[in-house]
Amino acid sequence: MNAPLSNNLLSPDPLQSSQPMFWGNAPTSRAPGRMYTDAQVYHKELEALFYSKHWCYVGLECEIPKAGDFKRSKIGERSVVMVRERGRPGQPDSIHVLENRCAHRGVQFVRERSGNARSFVCPYHQWTYKLNGDLVGLTFRQGVEAVDECGEKIKQGGMPEDFQLCDHGLTKLKVARRGGVVLRRLTRMWSRLKSIWAPMCSLISTAFFTSL
Ligand code: FES
Repeated sequence: MNAPLSNNLLSPDPLQSSQPMFWGNAPTSRAPGRMYTDAQVYHKELEALFYSKHWCYVGLECEIPKAGDFKRSKIGERSVVMVRERGRPGQPDSIHVLENRCAHRGVQFVRERSGNARSFVCPYHQWTYKLNGDLVGLTFRQGVEAVDECGEKIKQGGMPEDFQLCDHGLTKLKVARRGGVVLRRLTRMWSRLKSIWAPMCSLISTAFFTSL
């Protein structure tokens, strides 16, 4: 079994080596056609709108009403899973948003659009995660016994001696819940979100509940 992936999957910088784009002779009132098809522009937009300075809508709490309910969603091009975990006695449930990318070799471990689960098991090599994204088990952690050319027993595969489950959980996104809406939260934007979101919540409640 190969070594796991790095855990830092949500902050690649695909544009690090990109060259600046020039507008050419197009008038400022008209965007050149290639602005709609250029891969660099597209990736820049993904970075600006979804991966860095913005908080993003993920789903509604009512879409996952029971403990274990999950829903697959997307932030930009990245697949994420919104899941409800039962709270401890006397505590409310938690809602987690996890990147849908196994910490081992990057496989999308949730294929269904929605469902209910007690844990997430990656279909590739069966790494198993709690609903909060912690890794709890993996197959062949100690490797398998084999025999070399001299007839000696040897160990093949397996994880290194210093392998720690706690270092290889799923990527967990920060979550904000406002008025039943679940958002991917960015800490530094949180105070601005609160001031923007409060009036929006009352607007949404008015729009939804006065028309019923
Ligand atoms: S890719 Fe190997 S367990 Fe997920």
